[in-house]
Amino acid sequence: MRLDGKVALITGSASGIGEACATLFAQEGASVAAADISEDGAVRTAATVSEAGGKSIAITGDVTSKPECERMVEETVAEFGSVDILVNSAGITPRYVPADLPFDEKWDRVIDVNLKGSMLMSYFASEKMKEKGSGSIVNLASIIGLVGYTHGMGLSDGFNPYPHSKGGIVQMTRDMGVTFARTGVRVNALCPGFAYTALTKTLTEDPEARERLENLHPMGRLGEPMEIAHAALFLASDEASFITGACLPVDGGYTAQ
Ligand SMILES: NC(=O)c1ccc[n+]([C@@H]2O[C@H](COP(=O)([O-])OP(=O)(O)OC[C@H]3O[C@@H](n4cnc5c(N)ncnc54)[C@H](O)[C@@H]3O)[C@@H](O)[C@H]2O)c1
Repeated sequence: MRLDGKVALITGSASGIGEACATLFAQEGASVAAADISEDGAVRTAATVSEAGGKSIAITGDVTSKPECERMVEETVAEFGSVDILVNSAGITPRYVPADLPFDEKWDRVIDVNLKGSMLMSYFASEKMKEKGSGSIVNLASIIGLVGYTHGMGLSDGFNPYPHSKGGIVQMTRDMGVTFARTGVRVNALCPGFAYTALTKTLTEDPEARERLENLHPMGRLGEPMEIAHAALFLASDEASFITGACLPVDGGYTAQ
């Protein structure tokens, strides 16, 4: 098994890509700390992993809170003895923020969850990893961290914090990747194209918008969470031992156009 003996802490594990990572990593032998702001969701994912024969605990926590990030890492270490893998999959789009908030407060909220949350979790997890002399952090950036937002879909007016947060994750990944390079801690990011998850539900439930979105990807479809989890598995595993600071598109050809 590719993650035998490893401990993986996965944020955003109640849904979508994080949930798929929790399931897949446990199948590959990892002990999984399934973290999410949704207590029910984290418990559900941990139960699914355990029922399938994996080792898992549920951790409830908000990645925007520094003390909660520290606690999530400490709980993982207390239960399983280390944190070898961190997947930063907790994320939101502006539609998760109250619509009547001023645009700058919406911006703060999305940046806090997506960018600051990934930074805080990486801060506390990397401390443990450096002590051990090994570890792998996998961030969830996006194609929208590499290129401008989807032209013609009306998804951004240039002030949408989502692409700004994902571009920040790309650069954070490169910076941490090179800075930690001699500590044994690798830091990489995935840049998924649009995927069929709760995050994109408002787009995909409208058949016309869904078709337009699918056609923006050369493969003519969106990604499945498990397709993205498989790329995360590779980056998390020792098979990627010479890869750090990399941002890997998993996008059906979107950024190759
Ligand atoms: N789905 C896509 O099309 C797509 C594409 C590119 C990148 N991504 C990124 O991948 C990651 C996972 O996306 P997904 O599609 O699986 O989303 P999702 O909505 O299915 O899951 C996100 C999870 O994050 C949790 N979460 C939200 N705020 C949190 C907080 N403050 N603290 C802790 N947990 C919190 C939610 O409860 C949810 O379980 C996100 O960072 C997203 O931006 C998604």
